Amino acid sequence: MSVITLQGASPSRRRREQMYRDYMEFFEHSDKHRRWSPMSDIPWDLLERSGDLDRIAERRDQADEDLAVCLETFCGVELFIPDYTKNGLNISREIFGQAWFHLSWGYEEAKHALSFREYLLRSGLRTLDQYLDYEEKVLETEWKMPFSTNREMACYGALQEIATYLIYAGQRDHYRRKGNETLARLFELVGRDEAAHASFYRKFMRFEFQEDPEGTAEDLSHVISHFEMPGASLVPEFEQRLNVDGVAISKQLFMERGIMPTLKFIGMTRRDMLNAKRRRDARLLAEVA
Ligand SMILES: [Fe+2]
Ligand SMILES: [Fe+2]
Repeated sequence: MSVITLQGASPSRRRREQMYRDYMEFFEHSDKHRRWSPMSDIPWDLLERSGDLDRIAERRDQADEDLAVCLETFCGVELFIPDYTKNGLNISREIFGQAWFHLSWGYEEAKHALSFREYLLRSGLRTLDQYLDYEEKVLETEWKMPFSTNREMACYGALQEIATYLIYAGQRDHYRRKGNETLARLFELVGRDEAAHASFYRKFMRFEFQEDPEGTAEDLSHVISHFEMPGASLVPEFEQRLNVDGVAISKQLFMERGIMPTLKFIGMTRRDMLNAKRRRDARLLAEVA
């Protein structure tokens, strides 16, 4: 049996081989443990039997409207999958593992959009016309990459995926408490995918950090200080949507359960991050001076 070694290989080959291995791990794990179907793994029959359909049709309450706004917002963010994957493939064309990850990622995100849309329509929270109006409005804008390099986008991916996971985990817990099994399961399934996406990007970042600790730390500090969720500049009336509980997470939760665990995973401390930011700011200042 041949032993694959990366010793002495060029940085580009090391990256390609590492990404290939990370992708294989991602793919194998998702195939064995995470494959699910929006049609057969979400208990839609419980929604039909819950009595919610009649109630929503007759007298919907504020909680129903908040849920509709949440689902619509989540669905809106997922509607940019063509832009995300197109850009993702463009920056990773020569890195097999990363490019193939983007395709698997797109397939999984597409299931999220489909599940949100199905819930909105099956529950009666939105009519088909209302949904289609919203979809058209969302797609008037095109998503552009918020950062320009592959390494910065890996940092962004890791943070964006963990933030999304935390939002969906919050929704999962909320609907478990409320006894809405259909929504609890829906958010459990999509949240599990987001956690796996975050994990892939963290491994990508850890590789980059091992290759170039200072440069990667500077990129991460830059991404953290300019971070915003994809929906922020894309989903209609996003600012108003943020007033609805569950649409987003607090800065504190993001720091504690998003940023800090990401830093720890790649082997960085908060102090390392602050030093990297200072270093980057000083360098940029010197460049313009
Ligand atoms: Fe998603
Ligand atoms: Fe994701």
